[in-house]
Amino acid sequence: EFCAAMSSAVRRTSDTAMEDKLKLVILYGSQTGNALDAAERLGREAERRGCPVTVLSVDEFDASSLPNEKTLVFVVSTTGQGDTPDSMKVFWRFLLQRNLGQHWLDGVHYAVFGLGDSGYQKYNLVAKKLDKRLADLGAVAIVERGLGDDQHPSGYEGALDPWMSSLWKMLYLKNPKFFPKGPDFVVPEMKLMDQPKIQITYHDVEKVHTQFSTTTDLKSNEMQIERARSMSPGKFSHDKNRPDCFLKMIRNDPLTRADSGKDVRHFEFEVLSSVIEYEVGDVLEVLPGQSPVAVDAFIQRCNLNPNSYITVHPRGTQNHIVNSNVPIQLKTFVELTMDVASASPRRYLFEVMSFFASAQHEKERLQYFASPEGRDDLYQYNQKERRTVLEVLEDFPSVQMPFEWLVQLVPTLKTRAFSISSSHSAHPNQVHLTVNVVSWTTPFKRKRTGLCSAWLAGLDPQQRVNIPVWFRKGSLPVPPPSLPLILIGPGTGCAPFRGFVEERALQSISDSTAPVLFFFGCRNEDNDFLYRDFWLSHSQNGGVLSEDKGGGFYVAFSRDQPQKVYVQHKMQEHSKRVWNLLSNGATVYVAGSSTKMPSDVFTSFEEIISKECEVPQEAAMRWLRTLEKAGALYCLVFK
Ligand code: 2AM
Repeated sequence: EFCAAMSSAVRRTSDTAMEDKLKLVILYGSQTGNALDAAERLGREAERRGCPVTVLSVDEFDASSLPNEKTLVFVVSTTGQGDTPDSMKVFWRFLLQRNLGQHWLDGVHYAVFGLGDSGYQKYNLVAKKLDKRLADLGAVAIVERGLGDDQHPSGYEGALDPWMSSLWKMLYLKNPKFFPKGPDFVVPEMKLMDQPKIQITYHDVEKVHTQFSTTTDLKSNEMQIERARSMSPGKFSHDKNRPDCFLKMIRNDPLTRADSGKDVRHFEFEVLSSVIEYEVGDVLEVLPGQSPVAVDAFIQRCNLNPNSYITVHPRGTQNHIVNSNVPIQLKTFVELTMDVASASPRRYLFEVMSFFASAQHEKERLQYFASPEGRDDLYQYNQKERRTVLEVLEDFPSVQMPFEWLVQLVPTLKTRAFSISSSHSAHPNQVHLTVNVVSWTTPFKRKRTGLCSAWLAGLDPQQRVNIPVWFRKGSLPVPPPSLPLILIGPGTGCAPFRGFVEERALQSISDSTAPVLFFFGCRNEDNDFLYRDFWLSHSQNGGVLSEDKGGGFYVAFSRDQPQKVYVQHKMQEHSKRVWNLLSNGATVYVAGSSTKMPSDVFTSFEEIISKECEVPQEAAMRWLRTLEKAGALYCLVFK
């Protein structure tokens, strides 16, 4: 609701007041929110230079009207293995239509900025493809595309700042009317935006109780989550605000030895009150619980009243929204939507904080952090150290910000997605996850843990805590029993394959099923051989992974000998088996968290095909690409 209201407000201003003036349309394709942040920053910087802008997600923009725009800026991220963000899929499909022709975008000027990670093989592929396609359709680039890199010492901002300066310069050269006072003239940020985008209405507690307690259950968990998320200005990966259901944990078992340096857990959850449906390969999104101590500390630090009832809405819309939204307790809103003690804040928070600092030395430090000169130091202080909002606020005690600004600027509490590792047919009303409990030490030796994995690992099944979840279609479609499978999944990459094998084992009781070949990898046989007994039992006595059924189960223990042994080496060792299944129409699934693993595995496939078929590696590569296009090859990489 919030986002819809905001974007229609944006569209209205752009339609009327700016009709005859020059304007910049900034379109973003964002998966996790970074491209949105970058697009909003570009928008603010353009506005500070006096240029009217409209910032929209590509899925809010009608692609067929592209030729009507004169100046477009795209900010797009690349996800997984070179994929477009979900919100960009329809737009991209539209742009690829053959009938558009090479003059379709004649007269349109554009600029592309990409967000990617050079640790991945298909680095910034989406930005590169978009840039090329726009040029092929006749549009003219204003500046060379900019490529932001997660691996850069100051993240994507390292490339964004210089790219932005050249964009303003080139736009000014194109038409000085874009920046009436020159591209270097900037209005101070707070002068321009001294009002936050949102507004909070406080309600009388007594009235709330009498008005709403009969009609709506003010305390219902599901309703609270739905209400909080629909009022939050944050974007969520799932557009359904109400969770599909609540799960209760019934098992929390370590799969790794305590002294192994790794902590991977097997979690089992059950649902009692509703019926759940999912397929193997699907994804479970979990809303993590925040530490109550951190939430209380944040509320106290910001001088807020935890018990007040609020409604949150875009500025200027209170009548309409306030009447339709049931108020929520402030503490519950913070708990469910504002990530106060895990995610690092954006640079904009420092800029706004500088305005509200009453101590001069804090103000100066915050202003420095927000300036281009302070960019690298901010990156070291903030992102590298994974400083939390609470820590930042505690480091600058003189800052007292209105709650509106905090709601707008504190990172949104996001759900975390996990590949489901069970088959629903094998465990009705249960879901299993295989989770790496993330922890690391920062450059200044602070211990950090992943919010969701650490929260789950800390739950005791006896506590019967309600865990809000959403089910989502996975990117690995269900393999039919008649198809042979080749699975490659080192580490927690094995999660979806545990579900595949469970399902096949059930199917094989009544039907004949095609063979399954699984290449698994871990560090040591004694430390992190996840689900050892499970795999071994299915690879013996005619099981679905057994050699006598034409399949196989092979493990690479990377650290049990002086030289590394990886899944791709095991594939080479069994190249005849691999080729045998491939030539019989096998579907290939590759999953894991290592960024380099998929490309190493694909090279290994090429070598196997080339060796077994006696064709050049080039031809083998083409063959693999055909498999991918035909939907017989899937790759899932998680961070
Ligand atoms: P390593 O940590 O010893 O390098 C699960 O994480 C397993 O995947 C580990 O045994 C890990 O080995 C291995 N792994 C790391 N990089 C890989 C790569 N590029 N290809 C295949 N396996 C890899």
